[in-house]
Amino acid sequence: MLVTRQKVLRRFWYPVIPSDRLTDTPQPFTLLATPLVLFRDASGIACALIDRCCHRTARLSVGWLDGGNIVCPYHGWTYSGDGHCVRIPQRPDGDPGKGIAVQAFRCQERYGVVWVALEEPLRDIPALPEHDDPGYRRVFEFYETWAAPGLRIMENSFDNAHFAFVHKASFGIVEEPEPVPPRLEPDPAGFVMYADVPVKNPDIQKANLGIASERTIRHYAKTWWMPFSRKMKVTYPNGLVHIIMTLTAPIDDRRSQVIQFLLRSDREEDAPAANLVAFDRQVTHEDMTILEACDFDVPLALNRELHMPTDQPGLEMRRLLAKLLAEHGETEIHSPPPSYGGGGP
Ligand code: FES
Ligand SMILES: [Fe+2]
Repeated sequence: MLVTRQKVLRRFWYPVIPSDRLTDTPQPFTLLATPLVLFRDASGIACALIDRCCHRTARLSVGWLDGGNIVCPYHGWTYSGDGHCVRIPQRPDGDPGKGIAVQAFRCQERYGVVWVALEEPLRDIPALPEHDDPGYRRVFEFYETWAAPGLRIMENSFDNAHFAFVHKASFGIVEEPEPVPPRLEPDPAGFVMYADVPVKNPDIQKANLGIASERTIRHYAKTWWMPFSRKMKVTYPNGLVHIIMTLTAPIDDRRSQVIQFLLRSDREEDAPAANLVAFDRQVTHEDMTILEACDFDVPLALNRELHMPTDQPGLEMRRLLAKLLAEHGETEIHSPPPSYGGGGP
C-alpha cells in the first residue's frame, strides 16, 4: 500500500511534533507528502498551514512569526493561523483585501503532542487515561525519522516472533524462538493484543524494573491505534506498569516520523528516566534497523508475502485497512509485485 496514494488515510489525526518543540519559530513537517508549516498563534494555539505562500510559492516555514501570524520570507505577505492573508506590505496600509488565503488544516494538541488531520477525521484521537493519571510519570523518549512505513512499524510492535532474533542483544531469549500466541480483542481504536511473554532481564533492566531474576514475564496489552500508532502497556510480575506510546506519522510512502514517550507507574527515584531511555534506545534501534531493511511497500493483499500464526495481528491490520479502503471506494495502490519465493508453512 502506498500511503500517499490512499486518500482515506488523509482522514486520520497524525502526531507531528511534541508540543514543547513548537515554540516561537515556524516548524516544517511533511505529512503524507503534503508540506506543512506549524506554528503557534498569538494565543499559543497550534496551527498548521500548507507550507507554500500563495504569491510565489515560497515556503512559509522559512519565514518568521509576527504577533502570532506567519510572515512569508519572500515579500512579506502575512497569514493568520486560519490561513487568511492579513497583510500585504506592498499595498496601501498593508490591507490585503478579502479572499486571499492559503490552505489551513485541523490541528490540536493532546498528550503533549501536536496532531494534524489533512481532511475531516473519521475518528477522534484514542483515549489515553493514564496520561492524566497522577499515578503515572511521563518520560519523553524519541522524536526521529525512520526510513520505514507506519504499517511495518505497527506489525513489528505486535509481532511476538521477532524477539529471539531482533532483540537477542537486549531482552530476547535466543534459546526460545517459539513465540507466544497472541490473543486479539476488538477495541474502538483498532484492537488490543494480549500476550504473556517471557523475556531476558539484563542488568540495566533489573535496575529499571526492580526485578533481580535473570528472566521475567511481560504481561502485554498492546492497543493498535489505527492506522499507525500504538499503546504498549506492559505489566510486570511485581505490579510495575510500563506504557510505551509509539506514535507515528507518515511523511511519505517510505518514511515515518516517530514520537515515543513512556508512562510509568513508579517514580524517578525508583528508576531514573535516563536509564529507561537508555534501554529503550537499544531496543528501539534494534527494531528500526530491521524495519529499514524491509520493503517499504506493505501489501494489504495477503498473497504477496508469506505468513505464520503469530502474524495474526499484522494480518488483522491489513484486513481492517483493506476494509477501510473498500468502504471509501478505494482499491489498494502498490508498487509492482516483487517475488520473494513461494511455499512456506
Ligand atoms: S512568495 Fe510569499 S510574499 Fe511573495
Ligand atoms: Fe521489537
